[in-house]
Formats: sequence, structure tokens, C-alpha cells
Amino acid sequence: MNERRTPSSTSVTISELMTPESANFLGNVFGGVILALLDKCAYVTASRFAGRVCVTAGFERVDFHSPIEVGELVHLTGTVDYVGRTSLQVRIEVQAENIQERTLRHTNSCIVTMVAIDDEGRPTPVPRLHPESREEKEHFLAGARRRQIAKDQRQEYDALLQRLQQMSDEELDRLVAEEMSR
Ligand SMILES: CC(C)(COP(=O)(O)OP(=O)(O)OC[C@H]1O[C@@H](n2cnc3c(N)ncnc32)[C@H](O)[C@@H]1OP(=O)(O)O)[C@@H](O)C(=O)NCCC(=O)NCCS
Repeated sequence: MNERRTPSSTSVTISELMTPESANFLGNVFGGVILALLDKCAYVTASRFAGRVCVTAGFERVDFHSPIEVGELVHLTGTVDYVGRTSLQVRIEVQAENIQERTLRHTNSCIVTMVAIDDEGRPTPVPRLHPESREEKEHFLAGARRRQIAKDQRQEYDALLQRLQQMSDEELDRLVAEEMSR
């Protein structure tokens, strides 16, 4: 496919009825059930955009704004917000529908990084994305910044773990005591 792809042209919505086996101990839907649906939606959105099988590299952010109840119909809308060379960010907005009342409630927002994979199982380039509307440009630029922040954080965290592993027991105990006294 060679046409210019705008973020809005990448949007995909999947819907699923929340049945009793999805209930947690409060009678609402388990967070893990929602995470699995978010992953499915990210897969469909990313793979349709890339024309390739995509794998989940990371959940950059997941927000649970409001619980979802058994019996509600959940709608997940995925949109490609930003693309790198082989990776892409899918933003997913989730709404729960009370079927009888026909009301919608915004319950979750999520950003997932997916990576397109070639026939040998290696990352492969994805098509370009062309943000056009003001909102698309805002999400595109926020996606670029998010990617950089996530990369920096991963490196910083890995370096910190390495430093901690090299410390003596006394140094570690001093830092733990310092942390516990906050
Ligand atoms: C994700 C995966 C393909 C990346 O492979 P890799 O050999 O590290 O590839 P690279 O270092 O070349 O990175 C490829 C792209 O992924 C991105 N990436 C890699 N690890 C990432 C992470 N943890 N979070 C976000 N993006 C990541 C890189 O930034 C790069 O993006 P770009 O091409 O747009 O610049 C590989 O780690 C993998 O297969 N992971 C398991 C995926 C999986 O099983 N998911 C669950 C089931 S679908």
C-alpha cells in the first residue's frame, strides 16, 4: 500500500461483552482481562497498519479511570499515533457501554509499543505516518517525546541496577536505611 496514511485512517475498534467469568472479587472486571483486550487491540491496529505480524515490545502507559462491570459491552479503539523505523505506538481509548441504557463511559487509556516482524522473525520497517489534523500532530509529537523518555528511563534504570549490584553490603544497607527514614 503506497497511499499517505494519516493516524485517523489507522483506527480500529473491537468490542467485547464482559461475561461473569471475567469478574474480580469486587464483582467488576479483572484488570488482567482489560490488559489482554488492550494487547489484542494493539495487535490488530499495528498489524493492519504495518501489513506485517507485530509483537508487543512494551506497555508505555495504562490508566484505569473507572471500573468496568460484568454485563457491559467494552469498545476499544486503537490508533497509530507515532512510528519509528520498525516500531509504532498505538494509543487505545476504552469505553464501557451499558447496553440497556445505551450510555458510554470512558474507562481506560493506554499506549503500547509494537514492533513489526519479517518472515525471519526480525524487526522490519513500517510505513510512514502522516499526521494532518492539529490533534494528530499533537499526538505524533507527544509520541516522539514519549519514545525518547522511555528509552532514557530504560537506560537509566539498567545502569542503576548495575551500580547497585556492584555495591558492598554495607553501602546497600546504608541506602536502604536512608530510604526507610524518608
Ligand atoms: C520487541 C523485539 C522484537 C525487539 O527486538 P530487538 O532485537 O531488541 O530489536 P531492535 O533493538 O532492533 O529494536 C527494534 C525496535 O523496537 C524498539 N524496542 C525494542 N525494545 C523495546 C522496548 N522494550 N520498548 C519499546 N520499544 C522497544 C526499538 O526502539 C526499535 O524501534 P525503531 O526501529 O522504531 O527504532 C524483541 O525484543 C522481541 O521479540 N520481544 C518479545 C516480543 C513478544 O514476545 N511480545 C509478546 C507476545 S506478542
